[in-house]
Amino acid sequence: MATLVTGGAGYVGSHTVVALCEAGREVVILDDFSNAHPRTVDALGAVVDRRPAVVEGDAGDPAVLEAVFDGHRIDSVVHLAARKSVAESVADPLGYYRSNLGSVIELAAVAVRHRIGRIVFSSSAAVYGTPTEMPVSEDSPTVPQSPYGETKLMGERILADAAAASQLTAVMLRYFNPVGAHPSGLIGEDPSGELSNLVPRIMQVAAGRRDRLEVFGADYATADGTAVRDYVHVTDLAEGHVAALDADISPARSRVYNLGTGSGATVLQVLAAAAETTGLTIPHELAERRPGDVEATWADCSRARAELGWQATRSLHEMLADHWHFARSHPGASGA
Ligand code: UD1
Repeated sequence: MATLVTGGAGYVGSHTVVALCEAGREVVILDDFSNAHPRTVDALGAVVDRRPAVVEGDAGDPAVLEAVFDGHRIDSVVHLAARKSVAESVADPLGYYRSNLGSVIELAAVAVRHRIGRIVFSSSAAVYGTPTEMPVSEDSPTVPQSPYGETKLMGERILADAAAASQLTAVMLRYFNPVGAHPSGLIGEDPSGELSNLVPRIMQVAAGRRDRLEVFGADYATADGTAVRDYVHVTDLAEGHVAALDADISPARSRVYNLGTGSGATVLQVLAAAAETTGLTIPHELAERRPGDVEATWADCSRARAELGWQATRSLHEMLADHWHFARSHPGASGA
């Protein structure tokens, strides 16, 4: 039996495929390669010593999904295929609702029809919007501030309702800020579109492909005035999916988990750590706040620790060293 991983050629997806293979599971990747490269699948083959089965197609297309479920012995699903840019979702809300929710609905319908036991859903800390209490727990208020965040919260609700009415168990994973790459340097963040996240941009500056890092906002009420996030190694995150597939959750139930490290770092702290890790000077300039950014957010991960037996173990230094290793050996990656 195999686990279907939608978006399995993407950043979190490819690392999740590695973690699943290392846990002894068979994997089928479904990806439309709209924001990923087929070369990632080749690299995956080198990391796990066998090329996983790959179907090229849209996770929101019922015909594609039926063909995948008919052609493979699928017993569980990890659903990561989605559009994920906050700014793009503000500009194209209907495209985001159609794409991100269409795939959740069609996938859940096929999973119910094929009597699949479990679906693990890639959600986001974006569902919380501006946190009112720190650290953010799964019971904190959910007030998304963008269509992207709304699609993640609505996706969770759709899957919870589908689970309540069927044999399905739905596990929602709210990622904080994924960073890093596989330690082999063979897979990492390699989207086909432009990247706006902090660490990829820092790496572009370090590699000389960008002049300087713009630090968005230095007047926040934080230790050094710059915004705080909970950065988590993508391999830790990937292992969280394996734990979510194995967790003891009754059929027809759903459960939400934060995946982070439980502590935060400011933009300037990440920058200093990256300079230390790479041994390079990374020029920066202070700039205006980025619209829509929150001041500080980090996760309460106690539920994942207690119920999934999962906890992030890799340090910020490891995240940056692994990210740099991949970025340096893949000059065309990270949107550069
Ligand atoms: C962003 C998304 C979030 C998504 C996550 C996935 C937004 C508003 N949020 O989170 O929904 O789940 O990515 O990775 O886009 N920064 C700079 N200079 C830069 C880039 C970023 O100072 O060039 C700062 C940002 O202002 C922020 C921090 O670095 O304070 C982290 O930014 P980023 O990596 O984009 O992540 P989030 O905004 O937290």
